[in-house]
Amino acid sequence: MYYPDDVIEEVRTRNDIVDVISQYVSLKKKGANYFGLCPFHNEKSPSFSVSPGKQMYYCFGCGAGGNVITFVMEYENYSFVEAVKMLADRAGITLPEVEYSKEAKAQADLKNTLLEINRLAANYFYYQLKQPQGKAGYEYLRRRELSDETIRHFGLGFANKVPDDLYRYMRSKGYSDQILKETGLFFIEERGARDKFWNRVMFPILDVNNRVIGFGGRVMGDGEPKYLNSPETKLFDKSRNLYGLNFARTSREKYMLICEGYMDVIAMHQAGFTNAVASLGTAFTPQHAVLLKRYTDQVILTYDSDGAGVKAALRAIPILKDVGMSVRVLNMKPYKDPDEFMKNLGKEEFQKRIDQAQNSFMFEISVIRSQYNMQDPESKTGFYNAVARKLLEFPEKLERDNYTEAVAREYMIPADDLKRLVSALGSQMGTGVRAREYGEAKPVKKKEKEDGIKKSQRLLLTWLIERPELFSKIEGIISPEDFADELYRNVARMVFEEHEKGNINPAQILNQFIEGEEQYREVAALFHASLAESLNNEEQKKAFCETVKKIKKNSLDEQSRRANDIVQLQKIIRQQSELKNLRIDLD
Ligand code: CTP
Ligand code: MN
Repeated sequence: MYYPDDVIEEVRTRNDIVDVISQYVSLKKKGANYFGLCPFHNEKSPSFSVSPGKQMYYCFGCGAGGNVITFVMEYENYSFVEAVKMLADRAGITLPEVEYSKEAKAQADLKNTLLEINRLAANYFYYQLKQPQGKAGYEYLRRRELSDETIRHFGLGFANKVPDDLYRYMRSKGYSDQILKETGLFFIEERGARDKFWNRVMFPILDVNNRVIGFGGRVMGDGEPKYLNSPETKLFDKSRNLYGLNFARTSREKYMLICEGYMDVIAMHQAGFTNAVASLGTAFTPQHAVLLKRYTDQVILTYDSDGAGVKAALRAIPILKDVGMSVRVLNMKPYKDPDEFMKNLGKEEFQKRIDQAQNSFMFEISVIRSQYNMQDPESKTGFYNAVARKLLEFPEKLERDNYTEAVAREYMIPADDLKRLVSALGSQMGTGVRAREYGEAKPVKKKEKEDGIKKSQRLLLTWLIERPELFSKIEGIISPEDFADELYRNVARMVFEEHEKGNINPAQILNQFIEGEEQYREVAALFHASLAESLNNEEQKKAFCETVKKIKKNSLDEQSRRANDIVQLQKIIRQQSELKNLRIDLD
């Protein structure tokens, strides 16, 4: 943190969240809260809420949430310090001189310098493209049917056919070898220095805040390697960035298109599909999925139609499903990729393919189908068995039945026969006969259980913040240490501590998490769950008791696993049996 906590607190409290957000979003009062259209995702009916009491905002649609400082950070793309400065200014507060720790300052300076160099490099490449020496590059891009407007929009450029052009330019700007080394743009050796990119058309890679974090360069024509990319640097983490997301995040479509490469993204954007992104040269990662989930919960895969593209899709599907995305797969045949498709059939046909995109499960089945010969009875039976096994991945019977029917329809298998096969195979696996093949079932269950306990912890914290009188009901039963999840435990410690002092202040607690982005999102969501899950009917009163018991039981189970002396263990066992009889009366 750059400023002392009390200064940040003053900045926060002197900027009323409703006042500030009203400058950006039109808000309407409903009950204790205000509602409006979420500025962080596209929606038609308001699910963005602002709570004057808690001085927090939360979107039930996209999960964005936080306090007045994080709002300004997200809306204006400001860093924490920039947001604090802006709000201090607004409230007429004079900030003290910034206190950097030496190390933090060095790190921040290094990143800023790298960003500066990248931006200079991008400008330089862009400039070269329009010069006589960049003619080959410009013509190459025009041959690939990119308009001047598109070239400008994506900031495409050209790296000259001179081995150390960019290097000399950067040195003339006063940058040292030591810092230039960190950019990944140069090979710096004792014998001398060379540019990494040479005689290529250049694609700057921007992060969601439109900052240049790396580059890709393509040979003009055939040559190896076709694309050259910046290595990972202090700025560029390939598994956490998606090409095109800086534009796609504000597209109006509900879904995003995921493709493989630079030219695919650009061709789609040029044709008006501005919701396309690519995971450049690396496989799609869980971090990519988490990043995308911030903006959408529906994706369409538009990977190449060759074997590698199918494989990539099969790998990406479970990763996307894991974060709760609905996934469809677009059929590009007979063309290889979106770029070629667009050139040959145009955007209307592409839109049709989007409308017809196949549900990811049905896509997986079609891939399985292609591995069997349906003319051969044995192979055909093999296909049916494989389908039945795949259907068993749905833990819910209703969903499984729906898909069974859909598959039966599509592949003309009598639905009842397929259902019988699925349930026969299911019970066989259930008795352990083929437990190994059924391997997926177990981790799923374990995860469900963990999620359940997490949810209980979240609920309890929410209720305690909402109705501090509940603290008396759990006195002597639950302490912050009973929260198994580390993040929730930290929040619980602060909540309990503030309650002791007599006043729980969620927006202030949130400030402690502002530096870890995923964490602060989770904590913000936590403080707002109460709007949806409050304790007002009989059922929920019962749920309170159950929730307390569940958390305590989980905590005691955990303690008994770790206990290493008998006295301790006996105490835990006694508590476990007392817990069974616990009753909490809320009235
Ligand atoms: N890629 C890479 N290095 C390579 C080849 C490919 O990093 N040597 C990455 C690039 O991001 C590329 C993507 O993988 O955009 C897809 O590769 P490919 O399908 O071979 O290229 P296209 O995107 O079709 O590129 P183009 O249309 O320019 O041939
Ligand atoms: Mn291509």
